[in-house]
Amino acid sequence: MFLKWVILLPLIYCTRGLNPAMQVVLNDKGLQYGRHVVAGWIQDKLEHGTLPDISGKINFGFLFNIQYTISGVTIRKCDFPEPSVEFYQATSGLKMSIIGLNVALTGDWKANCGFIHEKGSFDMALFGVDLISTVKLGMDTAGHMSLTGVNCTAQTGDVDLRFHGDASWFQRLLEGRIKDQLTKQLPTTICSAVEEVIGSLENYLEDMNVNFPLNEDVTLDLPLIDQPVVDMTNLHLGLKGEVHSSKCPRDPPFVAQAFSVPQRPGYMLSVGLSDFTLNSASFSYFSSNLLQAFINDSMIPPSFPVRLNTTFMGPFIPQLPKMFPDLLMLLHIYATDIPMFSFRSGAVVLSAKGAVEAFAIQGAALTPLFKLCVNSSFSGKAQVDVGRLKGSVTMHNFSLSLGESEIGPFKTDALENMVVTLMKIAILPQLNEKLAAGFALPRTVHAQLVNSLLTVEEVGGKAKSNVDIPNLWPHFVFFKQGFVAFSSDAQLVTNDAMFR
Ligand SMILES: *[C@@H]1O[C@H](CO)[C@@H](O)[C@H](O)[C@H]1NC(C)=O
Ligand SMILES: *[C@@H]1O[C@H](CO)[C@@H](O)[C@H](O)[C@H]1NC(C)=O
Ligand SMILES: *[C@@H]1O[C@H](CO)[C@@H](O)[C@H](O)[C@H]1NC(C)=O
Ligand SMILES: *[C@@H]1O[C@H](CO)[C@@H](O)[C@H](O)[C@H]1NC(C)=O
Ligand SMILES: *[C@@H]1O[C@H](CO)[C@@H](O)[C@H](O)[C@H]1NC(C)=O
Repeated sequence: MFLKWVILLPLIYCTRGLNPAMQVVLNDKGLQYGRHVVAGWIQDKLEHGTLPDISGKINFGFLFNIQYTISGVTIRKCDFPEPSVEFYQATSGLKMSIIGLNVALTGDWKANCGFIHEKGSFDMALFGVDLISTVKLGMDTAGHMSLTGVNCTAQTGDVDLRFHGDASWFQRLLEGRIKDQLTKQLPTTICSAVEEVIGSLENYLEDMNVNFPLNEDVTLDLPLIDQPVVDMTNLHLGLKGEVHSSKCPRDPPFVAQAFSVPQRPGYMLSVGLSDFTLNSASFSYFSSNLLQAFINDSMIPPSFPVRLNTTFMGPFIPQLPKMFPDLLMLLHIYATDIPMFSFRSGAVVLSAKGAVEAFAIQGAALTPLFKLCVNSSFSGKAQVDVGRLKGSVTMHNFSLSLGESEIGPFKTDALENMVVTLMKIAILPQLNEKLAAGFALPRTVHAQLVNSLLTVEEVGGKAKSNVDIPNLWPHFVFFKQGFVAFSSDAQLVTNDAMFR
């Protein structure tokens, strides 16, 4: 019983009214772009497509009836007009129409009437086929998007049917009757073919992954947590956007705040990412004890103006070289609280609290010396520039205070100044050099993002000219939240159709 609750609790925790931490908005411009790509794919499918068999019975009064079967119907040629696709609020989905489709088909026919059995092949042409199909976009229990056919109507204009062969009276009789029946039956056949396509898309969506391991430690959860919302101009998806530890998944002690992605109809696609996503990652690393490191002298590059030994520390901690002359040191650096990211208008602020434990290395033994507490906050800016995500980081605040000491008290000001100077002249410039070069935006073999725009916004949107230092502790309850809004267009980079 207890075990059952232990297993159930996280589920209950997960299903409380969560806000999506990641939101995706597909605008009409993006839908129309997708339509071009998909139209190529449909044409490709149609040109090698087959139709299901059709059988029927023709009654000639009381006299006799003919049973026939039409099989192996293959599409030989297809004059495919550009389909139209629109967001369709009425079914909370999409409405697709193809008007004036012309198709040439071949197939085999077989008929029997009492003792007469005949068979042969035929050519058929359908002119002016109109097809309208509406689908509903929904969500399954696992958070996949689902697709359900709601309504399909098909109309055929003219049907032309020619049997090959000796044109016997029986064939001619059959030709006319089968043509009539086909004209009646084809809309249903076409719509069931459409249903089949929708069914296979639905299977594809059902099999889609919603959990993405980012590395061996953490996994990004991206299931839908709300029904997709369709309005006249866009499709809106709300995704969980939570990072959790792969080994020991646990929800963080804070939740995502509601936000709305700015309307940018000029772009195909917009994505909004709440700082919750970064903070859930931060929580996972912190609670899995991964935010710690040991640093010794041999890990510091020889060119660096700092050595990790007691002699070097003399000017900052006068008693240290006297008590432990000329010994190498080891530092244990770890976070003492969850480092928190906060998206402010125009900037990302990171506040981190940690500790540094220092040891003297005496042969195989480590002698504890002192422990420093560190508070720090950094702010970063990010922008998209020619297909690359670039950024810069500045230090806002850095303070050291003495936690424990085995070597008696000492002032931390000089040490603090040394670390701040080091940060400013050595560490941050190197980091900023890398960030200025930037990272390429994700792309596939076939498509890339173009005209991208990235902004950092606050929930509530009160613009502040300068970034202030957040007072995040204790942060479990409330702190200001924000989000990154990314909008982009996509562009095919090769000519071959994406789905081939
Ligand atoms: C299906 O579509 C047809 C024509 O587009 C329309 O007349 C009919 O009302 C629709 N039915 C439903 C259930 O939406
Ligand atoms: C410093 O740490 C590295 C990696 O942990 C280790 O290989 C190296 O031997 C250490 N150096 C000293 C001087 O302890
Ligand atoms: C300690 O650092 C100083 C430079 O500050 C260097 O001259 C000295 O050789 C180092 N001692 C050890 C044991 O590495
Ligand atoms: C850093 O934080 C301390 C304590 O919160 C504060 O007194 C100090 O003014 C801050 N420094 C800067 C540069 O903001
Ligand atoms: C860090 O912040 C905490 C709480 O805000 C404070 O108690 C502590 O003194 C600060 N430490 C330093 C080194 O500024």
